[in-house]
Amino acid sequence: MRIGKYELLSELASGGMGTVHVSRQTGDGGFSRLVVVKRLHAHLANESEFRNMVRDEAMVASQIRHPNVVPVLDVVEHENEICLVMEYVPSVPLSVLIRAAKANGELLPAPVVSRIIGDVLGGLHAAHEVRDLSGNLLEVVHRDVSPQNVLVGVDGCARLIDFGIAKAAVRYARTKSGDLKGKISFMSPEQLQRKEVDRRADIFAAGALLFETLSGTPLFDGMDEGAILLGILMGKSRSLSAYGLPPEVDELVTKATEKDREERFATARLFEEALEATIPPASSHEVAAIVQRLCGTTIDERRELIRARVEESERRAFETVEATSYPSSATNPSTTTATKSSRRWPFLIAGSVATIAAFAFLSRATWGPRDIKASPNPSSESSSAAIEATRDASTNPPPTLSGSAPSATLPAPSASSEASAKISGVLRAPLPAQKGLKNGRRSGRTGSSSSSDLKTFPYAK
Ligand SMILES: Nc1ncnc2c1ncn2[C@@H]1O[C@H](COP(=O)(O)OP(=O)(O)OP(=O)(O)O)[C@@H](O)[C@H]1O
Ligand SMILES: [Mg+2]
Repeated sequence: MRIGKYELLSELASGGMGTVHVSRQTGDGGFSRLVVVKRLHAHLANESEFRNMVRDEAMVASQIRHPNVVPVLDVVEHENEICLVMEYVPSVPLSVLIRAAKANGELLPAPVVSRIIGDVLGGLHAAHEVRDLSGNLLEVVHRDVSPQNVLVGVDGCARLIDFGIAKAAVRYARTKSGDLKGKISFMSPEQLQRKEVDRRADIFAAGALLFETLSGTPLFDGMDEGAILLGILMGKSRSLSAYGLPPEVDELVTKATEKDREERFATARLFEEALEATIPPASSHEVAAIVQRLCGTTIDERRELIRARVEESERRAFETVEATSYPSSATNPSTTTATKSSRRWPFLIAGSVATIAAFAFLSRATWGPRDIKASPNPSSESSSAAIEATRDASTNPPPTLSGSAPSATLPAPSASSEASAKISGVLRAPLPAQKGLKNGRRSGRTGSSSSSDLKTFPYAK
């Protein structure tokens, strides 16, 4: 299926807001890259206020440029649908990584956690600091910082997704009960009370995220949403000492998740600095190694799935090129013979021209030398042109006869070989490179995992 310039290849997951598809964007000159198209659920897309909100928020989100934030590339409105297009990140959600560690009977090493949450805080800070052209803060707040919305890349870099849609989601999404439970565990008291939120709501969520990533269990948990809600409103009561971590780490979580937001870290950057001072972070290479060790199979499966879908798509594109070049053979196999002969007729023309030229040449030899240029006879000129055409035909077969019958305008064999060269070039080309860290102090620490390490889902969340 195609939505605008995006070809949907495979569904990755279906969340509260929409269905996520890994897709292929193609352009001129063989341009091709993988993206994610999030098709927002129909019941949401039908609400015009929701659509406006998504459009506005996506515009703001597209201003955030940071290596730890997955950028929104495009918003597509298509037959009553509204879709967000994001960069595709070969990765696993943090929720999956935490679960995989638990299933393996281990916890993620504290330095690895420090690096992942440090990345998240770096991305959050960049978003919180986005300003308009006049320098005014746009007051961006993510509102849905949770393990599902953090992608840990095969390059060892963690990135936030879903910037810009949580506001609309909170207002509109009819989330399944289990999903809601997962989401409210990270919501600050003020968010739960539907008060105006600012960046400190994200800092609260990041504190709860730090606790869960270190311990493998939610900071605020309960039998149901009511119990979780009560826990949040009463304040943090669990300690990380049960997981062998020093009290300073506990203090970080306590400060980040204070009920009174005035008591929290004032900015994500301050939280990040405190975290890195308390737990020196691992390198992105170490994070990448953990991702590979715990989720390598899943990553390989997804990469294979995507590779197969891309090849399938290339094959279809190739068939379309063929069908466009030779419509009769594509639409009716019984006309194959006729088509073959029509492909041959440019050669026949060239052959005929060559015969005429040869005849002219022989006549000249037979009837004595003549000054062709001086000849007033126009047929001599055409003979000369014919000779030229013959030479061209022998050096560059077959000729392109513009202005002739449609099939003659197509350089039949070369169109086919050019198309197949283009297609096989794309097939051989590596899948789009994973965007690495470009700036800031982390740039030298980006993981070196292969950019083609794409991968599939069975789990997705
Ligand atoms: N840009 C992306 N690159 C790679 N995978 C992605 C990307 N965006 C989303 N995914 C995958 O799709 C899954 C679902 O994402 P999505 O944000 O739709 O669901 P959710 O966060 O669980 O729910 P919600 O719709 O409430 O945000 C993610 O957990 C991740 O596996
Ligand atoms: Mg999400």
